[in-house]
Amino acid sequence: MKKKTVVDLFCGAGGLSKGFLDAGYNVVLGVDYDESALKTFQNNHGTATAMKLDLYNHDNITCIVDFLKDNNIENLDVLVGGPPCQGFSYAGKMDINDKRNFLYLAMVKLTEKLKPKAVLLENVLAMIEANGGVGAKRVIDDFEKIGYKMVPKVLFAPEYGIPQIRKRVFFVGLKDSENEFEFPNALLDQEHFVTCEEAISDLPSLQTEEGEILRGETVQEYMLPPQSEYQRKMRKDSSQVYNHIGSVPIEKTRKMIALVPEGKNYLALPDEYRGLYKYHEALTRYHSKKPSLTINTGHRSHFHYKWNRIPTVRECARLQSFPDDFLFYGNQSDQFKQVGNAVPPMLGQAIAEQLKKYI
Ligand SMILES: C[S@@+](CC[C@H](N)C(=O)[O-])C[C@H]1O[C@@H](n2cnc3c(N)ncnc32)[C@H](O)[C@@H]1O
Repeated sequence: MKKKTVVDLFCGAGGLSKGFLDAGYNVVLGVDYDESALKTFQNNHGTATAMKLDLYNHDNITCIVDFLKDNNIENLDVLVGGPPCQGFSYAGKMDINDKRNFLYLAMVKLTEKLKPKAVLLENVLAMIEANGGVGAKRVIDDFEKIGYKMVPKVLFAPEYGIPQIRKRVFFVGLKDSENEFEFPNALLDQEHFVTCEEAISDLPSLQTEEGEILRGETVQEYMLPPQSEYQRKMRKDSSQVYNHIGSVPIEKTRKMIALVPEGKNYLALPDEYRGLYKYHEALTRYHSKKPSLTINTGHRSHFHYKWNRIPTVRECARLQSFPDDFLFYGNQSDQFKQVGNAVPPMLGQAIAEQLKKYI
């Protein structure tokens, strides 16, 4: 059977697209305006094209329509996208009129032009929770005007086998369907969530026996054979480790990190450190027997459950369910941003598999 076609707007590194690829879809195009994210997208999505466009400017949507025409794709199957969410995000200033909150309109415009069989839009929880859910209401109303009934649902990543506490809202709308989309059921209960240790214990420690933190090489050997089913899955197509460069803390910071016990945060620090660090989730050491906290785009204030350093890009990617053969490009801060911004590929895959029943 012919593979279903997918276009990804605001594709970033392509976590969502990777989920669709793994579910057997044909991802034909990813659009973003960030060059390093596009390079990552291009190098990890087979034959898909990465296109640089500013989606504030709706005139640019014509380029997408032309691309599909030139490639003889007459009826697009699925349009997916994770428009930026800083305007809604609890981590940001939360201004509902922040112009970034209207970027989803590019998805509405393209849907109106192409009439795909299904649309999937991902965003932060604040979209349905903040200010009476005004963000979600806008999305639902605008898609309804063009004939798509968007069904929202909050998905909790650990329930789908991802070793990370991450909640996001997903909207799915179907064209010409009597049925509403039903999201895939949770696969795991809390007792069976994949833990940090199960996710990353085989990766090089980047710490000497004396406690010194190392940067490590561009390409490294695994420290251990796979220690869990999850590690076997992540390593399926890899024999070496990439994107695993340590951030070497200054001595004072390293000592401070060493004082935070597993699963605890800055509140566990002696008084002399307490005044220096006051944020809520800050300076938390992951718990080896639990999923990690939410991987974000750059506040690098979480620590490895065992080693006295922040997690590397590869460790964050593992916690986001990116397999080890998915390589990230750009400088280190670009890479952290790409990983933190992404939809966990395994979560994208669970939705993509379910969507096959409808299109
Ligand atoms: C939340 S991320 C999407 C992550 C992606 N869905 C994934 O799974 O990896 C949002 C993306 O929107 C892009 N973006 C922000 N403003 C944009 C604009 N005006 N035009 C195009 N892309 C934009 C950012 O560069 C970022 O990569």
